[in-house]
Amino acid sequence: MQIRQLVKNEDIPYDLLLLADPSRTVVDNYLNRDYTYVAEQNNEIIGIVVLFPLDNKSIEIKNIAVREDFQKKGIGVVLLNHAEMVAQKLGYKFLIIGTADISGSPIVLYEKFGFCRYGVKKNFFVENYDEPIVDNGFQCIDMVMLKKEIS
Ligand code: COA
Repeated sequence: MQIRQLVKNEDIPYDLLLLADPSRTVVDNYLNRDYTYVAEQNNEIIGIVVLFPLDNKSIEIKNIAVREDFQKKGIGVVLLNHAEMVAQKLGYKFLIIGTADISGSPIVLYEKFGFCRYGVKKNFFVENYDEPIVDNGFQCIDMVMLKKEIS
């Protein structure tokens, strides 16, 4: 498996991006090829991570997803490591990630990776999406924000 930047003119793997974020409109608002990395195996894209600079100190992982048949094999952690390495090289001090505050969310994975909770965006999923967002049978309301100091 290799991780590489999504190149110019290459199709955007929306099938993967929509696993993590169900609104294509929202995805298009943060997607930038310069900050999008894909995990590829046998010429197939099986994972993706999208970064988005917030200010000169912080960069956020706006989307991270692994194809369903490749989940729970460590690829998520490889993508998190790649995002951290890129953010460090670019000189950022904090890597940020947000996720729904529901049972079964990947918060445990992020905390194991060294992220710490620092805030909550109240009603984020209600205010930013046209339809209710339901994950694992739970409606997503608030977004928990986590950060990791990387320098
Ligand atoms: N909840 C709890 N633990 C989780 C988890 C989840 N949703 N996803 C992964 N983990 C755990 C794994 O069990 C594993 O723990 P272990 O090493 O103790 O066994 C560890 O985290 C590493 O997992 P890994 O195999 O690297 O993760 P992955 O390749 O399955 O990728 C996601 C993780 C979240 C990217 C993947 O499940 C995914 O694409 N989900 C759908 C999209 C999504 O929800 N994205 C995140 C939006 S915030």
